[in-house]
Formats: sequence, structure tokens, C-alpha cells
Amino acid sequence: MSSIQVRAEKHVTPELVDAAAALISQLSSSARPPTADEWAEIMTCPVTTFFVARADDKIVGMVTLLLVRISTGLRAILEDLVVLASHRQRGIGEMLLQAALAHSRSAGARTLDFTSRPSRTDASRLYHRVGFEPRDTRVYRYLLDRNG
Ligand SMILES: CC(C)(COP(=O)(O)OP(=O)(O)OC[C@H]1O[C@@H](n2cnc3c(N)ncnc32)[C@H](O)[C@@H]1OP(=O)(O)O)[C@@H](O)C(=O)NCCC(=O)NCCS
Repeated sequence: MSSIQVRAEKHVTPELVDAAAALISQLSSSARPPTADEWAEIMTCPVTTFFVARADDKIVGMVTLLLVRISTGLRAILEDLVVLASHRQRGIGEMLLQAALAHSRSAGARTLDFTSRPSRTDASRLYHRVGFEPRDTRVYRYLLDRNG
């Protein structure tokens, strides 16, 4: 098996823009991938840590961690976990989660939260295995472009 490295990525490169677009197409049928300028915004945002997984020096997975201080403490929120279909079931998803957990812990967060649709059964098994537990809560969304 090829060696896999996970690290926080700080630089926007054409490779990153293209690889992330391929990953986003496997995560969402509706999301438009960021432009290079939008990636620069992501990389320089103090709230955001963007982790990538590389296998044989190729980007094969990613996850975005948000760390933000609010009135009730430091919140850690995970978004957009995805591994290329060709590279799944090799432990890369778990490595990305562990990197986000370690970073959140060392930043002083007490919890790490995310949302995930029940239909994402592969993701659900992974989250349970790593130790995440479902919370009894609701997610609300207001469609800004449809409501005004
Ligand atoms: C969810 C997702 C990120 C998981 O990524 P992954 O890299 O396949 O995750 P892992 O390899 O760590 O774990 C997946 C399975 O492979 C198994 N596995 C891990 N290493 C393995 C190895 N070396 N050999 C064989 N199996 C292995 C794990 O035990 C796990 O098994 P399970 O599904 O029976 O629990 C990936 O399926 C994905 O990108 N899905 C589409 C996007 C998505 O749903 N994202 C989540 C949004 S909330």
C-alpha cells in the first residue's frame, strides 16, 4: 500500500484547485468548487484549517476544520470530509478525522461537531468507529436566495 500523509495545507496551487474540485464533485452534486481566489480566502482565514491527505504525492482526501471562539467557548466544527472513491477503505478518512481531532484538542476545544445526512452510511460507520456520538438536535436552514 502507498504511504499516506495528512497535513494542514496553507498554499494554493493549481494541483490543489484541481484535486479539490474532483473531491467536491464526489461530495456534492450541487456545490461549485472554489476558484483560486476563493481558495486564497480559505487558506488565509484565521478560523479555517484545511487538511489534505496525499497518497504517492497526489491529493486524495480533504476535510475542513473551523475553530471559532463564541460566548460559550471555543467551537470546533468539521465540514466537507471526502476521500476519492479510488482511495477509500484504506484508513484515509479516519486519518483525516484524527488530524482534525488532534488539532481541535491542542487548540483547547472540548468538542468537535459536524452534521451528516443519515443516508451517508459509509461516513456514519466511520464516525461511530472513531468515537463520535449523534446528538439530539435539529439543523435549520434558511434559503437566502429563495427568500429574498
Ligand atoms: C466517508 C468517507 C470519507 C470515508 O473515507 P475512507 O477513507 O473510506 O474511510 P476509512 O478507510 O477510514 O474507513 C472506511 C472503511 O474502510 C475500512 N478500512 C480502513 N483501513 C482499511 C484497510 N487498510 N484495509 C481494509 N479496510 C480498511 C474501515 O474499517 C472502514 O470499514 P467500515 O466501512 O466497515 O467501517 C468516504 O466514504 C467518502 O468520501 N464518502 C463520500 C463523501 C461523504 O459521505 N463524506 C462525509 C460527509 S458527512
